[in-house]
Amino acid sequence: MLEPVRATRFVTPLREGGSLPGIVEADDLGTYVAKFRGAGQGLKVLVAEAIVGELARALHVPTPRLVVIDLPAAIARYEADEEVQDLLSASVGRNLGVDFLPGSFGYDGSRPPTPEAAADIIWLDSFTANVDRTWANPNLLVWHGTTWAIDHGAALYFHHSWPRREPDPGRFAALPFEASKHVLADIAGPVGGAHERLAPRVTDALVTTILESVPDDWLEPTPWLPDPGAARQAYAAHLRARLDNSPAWLPGGTT
Ligand SMILES: Nc1ncnc2c1ncn2[C@@H]1O[C@H](COP(=O)(O)OP(=O)(O)O)[C@@H](O)[C@H]1O
Ligand SMILES: [Mg+2]
Repeated sequence: MLEPVRATRFVTPLREGGSLPGIVEADDLGTYVAKFRGAGQGLKVLVAEAIVGELARALHVPTPRLVVIDLPAAIARYEADEEVQDLLSASVGRNLGVDFLPGSFGYDGSRPPTPEAAADIIWLDSFTANVDRTWANPNLLVWHGTTWAIDHGAALYFHHSWPRREPDPGRFAALPFEASKHVLADIAGPVGGAHERLAPRVTDALVTTILESVPDDWLEPTPWLPDPGAARQAYAAHLRARLDNSPAWLPGGTT
C-alpha cells in the first residue's frame, strides 16, 4: 500500500486540474499524476486522496494505484516555468502519486458503469462525504472500458476544521449525503444494496492498515491532535462512528 518511489523527471503540468497536478516519471519506471504537497489546498487533500483511494481499492471500486513520490530538490531547480518551479520547490519531499491511465478520457456517460458499480461509487462518496462528483466535475475516467474513480481530495472535509476545533466524530456520523447531483445518480442501482455489499468490508483492521500507510508528515499536528498517531485515531473514530450510524446518512430515496 502506498509504495514509496522517487521522482526522476517532471514531465508537464496538468492545467485542467484546479490544484495544478503534474505528470511525473519515477525510478520504478512508472508515470504518475502527482498531487503536490505545496499546492494551495495543503496536505489534508493528500490525506483524503490516500485514505479514500485505498478504501476504494479495498472495496473493488476501480481507482488508479497510489504511491508516495519523493521529490528531490534538483527536479525543481531545472524547471523553466516559474509558476511550476515555485510549486515544485514548495513540494520537495513526500507527494501523492496517482498511476497515470494512458488514453483514458473524462466520464461523459457514453460508457456507463453497471448499476451496481455506479451504486458502489455513490456509496463510497456517501460514506466519505465526497461532494466532488457532479456533471460539472465528474472526477471519473473511462479507461479500458471501465469507469475509474479519481480525485478524492474533497472527501473527509471534517479535517479542515481540526486546526480550530476539537475533532467531532458524532457530527460527521450524522451528516446526510445529498446524491441528487451525483454524476451517476440516474444510472445507479439501489445504494442500500451497495451498503449491504460494502459496509461489512470496512473493518477496523482495514482502516488501521490504510491509516498506517499515510506518511507521518502529511498528518499535521493540531492542539487536539499533537502527533500522527492521534490524527490516525481521529480519522478511524470518524469512519467508525459514521459506519455505526448507518443507514442514517444513506442518500434518501435510493435504498
Ligand atoms: N490517473 C490519471 N490518469 C490520467 N489522467 C488523470 C489521472 N488523474 C487525473 N487525470 C487528469 O487530470 C485532471 C485533474 O485531476 P484531478 O485528480 O481531478 O485533480 P484536481 O484535484 O486538480 O481536480 C483529471 O480531470 C484528468 O483529466
Ligand atoms: Mg478533479
